[in-house]
Amino acid sequence: MKQEELEELLKEMSPEEKAGQLLQVNAELLSGGGVETGPSAGNFDRKDVWLAGSVLNIVGAKKVRQLQREYMEKHPHHIPLLFMADIINGYRTVFPIPLAQGCSFDRKLVEECAAASAREAAASGVHVNFSPMVDLVRDPRWGRVMEAYGEDSFLTASMGAAAVEGYQGASPETEGSVSSCFKHFAGYGAPVGGRDYNNVELSERTFRDDYLPGYQAAVQAGAHMAMTSFNTIDRVPATAGKKLLRDILRGEMGFDGVVISDWAAVEELVAHGIAEDKREAAKLAMEAGVDIDMMTDVYLRHVPGLIRDGILKEEMLDEAVMRILKLKNRLGLFEHPFRFADEDRERFFAAEKPYSSLAQRAARESFVLLKNNGILPLSETKGKICFMGPYAGQARMAGAWSFLTETDGYQTLEEAVKRIRQDVSFVKGSELLDRGRELRHFANGAAPVRNCSTPEEEEAWYREAEEAAKAADVVVLALGEHSYESGEAASRARIDIHSVQMELFRRVKRVNPNLVAVIFSGRPLELKEISDGASALLMTWMPGEQGAAALADVLFGRQEPGGRLSMSLPYCVGQIPVYYSEFSTGRPCMSQDPLDRSGSRYLDIPNAPLYPFGWGMSYTDFQYSGVTLSRPRMGRKDRLTASVTVTNSGTRRGTEVVQMYIRDIAGSVVRPVRELKGFQRIDLRPGESRRVSFEIREDMLRFHDIHMEYRSEPGSFTVFIGHDSTAENQASFVLKG
Ligand code: BGC
Repeated sequence: MKQEELEELLKEMSPEEKAGQLLQVNAELLSGGGVETGPSAGNFDRKDVWLAGSVLNIVGAKKVRQLQREYMEKHPHHIPLLFMADIINGYRTVFPIPLAQGCSFDRKLVEECAAASAREAAASGVHVNFSPMVDLVRDPRWGRVMEAYGEDSFLTASMGAAAVEGYQGASPETEGSVSSCFKHFAGYGAPVGGRDYNNVELSERTFRDDYLPGYQAAVQAGAHMAMTSFNTIDRVPATAGKKLLRDILRGEMGFDGVVISDWAAVEELVAHGIAEDKREAAKLAMEAGVDIDMMTDVYLRHVPGLIRDGILKEEMLDEAVMRILKLKNRLGLFEHPFRFADEDRERFFAAEKPYSSLAQRAARESFVLLKNNGILPLSETKGKICFMGPYAGQARMAGAWSFLTETDGYQTLEEAVKRIRQDVSFVKGSELLDRGRELRHFANGAAPVRNCSTPEEEEAWYREAEEAAKAADVVVLALGEHSYESGEAASRARIDIHSVQMELFRRVKRVNPNLVAVIFSGRPLELKEISDGASALLMTWMPGEQGAAALADVLFGRQEPGGRLSMSLPYCVGQIPVYYSEFSTGRPCMSQDPLDRSGSRYLDIPNAPLYPFGWGMSYTDFQYSGVTLSRPRMGRKDRLTASVTVTNSGTRRGTEVVQMYIRDIAGSVVRPVRELKGFQRIDLRPGESRRVSFEIREDMLRFHDIHMEYRSEPGSFTVFIGHDSTAENQASFVLKG
């Protein structure tokens, strides 16, 4: 449609029809399956629901086509519906969770996974994907760190932009593309105490320097939609944040797409205590610039009245409706209302699974080998190996947001290992949850999971494990948290491995010290004891449907673990938040002497995390030359090149993630001790060397200065290039005024 036609259409629409466009309902409401879900589902009647402009989480080419047809026939102006869904780490093919994808430090990989998810979802009728989540995360108690790309704003921005590009393709005409809705604007990843849905307290400077770049990158990558967050920013809920949405998002960042509230977030303005009632909530959210109200009747019931009473201007409603109509038009829905929904393609994806090998590559690239005293890789022929622990025999590795299935047809580690080596043994070892403990998924209606075993049964499993461990040369313990323990509404104050598994670890360790610990989780966990006690420690996160196959290959050395930590692994929970780009204090901790009390430190634990951001080993070793700079001083228009030579000094082919960090020595406000400004994955044969160069430009040195202006300040900078965020390999340059 041409813009004039859209404007004509808007003029012909009644206020109820217009308000309908601002409503998003879920599948159950639209298809009459009964009202349910979230904290609020409002009071809708059939007539209202059939005016809703969009629907969430309804998929299936046949169903979507039928519903679209029926809806458009009923709609007074035959305006097509927008179908939106949460495809977080894959639709048909399940990839590793985003936190794990962040560990790959592989932008191309993230883009490929997103493009594959888009193609599969588009064939099933999805138009808009509620992804990526570009919330910066520094508190692993928060369960939704699994959906993020980690603690660093540069990494989050790179990966977030890659995901948007992957989902949306070159243009909306790209076959199998979907619109991307980045979320949650803004600051949702910093809830106080790591408790989901809690409020956020950040200084404006930290918010702008660290938290906004991820969203900004998604806007620059062209994302069609943005979702607000549940939290407050400077005591104002984001969904009523006029400054946030109109000034920062639309004004400063130049976002011109559709803004949707998070689930029931408009109505929640009442619970937040900034709206007296739903009518005021509607007013505040409209004024802030929220276009779509997800899953409540607040806009529907109150926006027409607020306009009639002259409290809101009709232009404000028209503006929101026009943005939604434009998106529908951009996706070509007026001409092709079914878009890419296609039963044949859907069957093809289900039957052929064309992205399985991509999922396997993604899994192994996101595994992070934290420790290895040489026990890994395991031999395919020699020695006795015994596997045990709750993740050795089960296939639930998809993570909390898996859309279609969590386990169907996935391999267990046992099945995958036995394809490589038959003469290995498997024993149970222990349950995953402590006895009596019960867990539910946050949204799906599935029955809770619980450990119903008796103490006698547990004792028998431990005994069996001890016997098996005694007889083995190497024991592989596959431990971790349940997938229901991360994701939405899954905050944990204790981020440890459950006692039932720790008991297994301790007992086995007593009889056989040759332990390889493999950890499945949606977040960094407290792993000090395991790290100290095991000979090797490998993080696999929630690796997705090909996790077991990828893990078996990595354990036996057919492939290498390719990931580096996208979030620091804390020494213990009391250290949280712990992240590498902290600020310099006036009393930095310089001494290792535990009795020294002159610096900023803990009495009982080190300041450093157990494993730092960027850390991860491969099966070979790399040597770095010193850092050389193309010039010692640079002007504002200059480009400086920082280079190192990296050599594979081991005996195996391997991949290194070369990381560049910059420290601004002095600023008008305190600067982080260092910040990631570049990374490159390189693959080297044994003995091979490669020159790796990074360009440094003035714009990479900007921050919000004392006057809140975004600019760089002349002075000295240090460049660190190395293996991880603790690299000391450095050179210095001066930025001229
Ligand atoms: C989540 C969003 C999600 C939405 C729709 C909310 O509870 O916070 O991330 O997109 O539900 O399912």
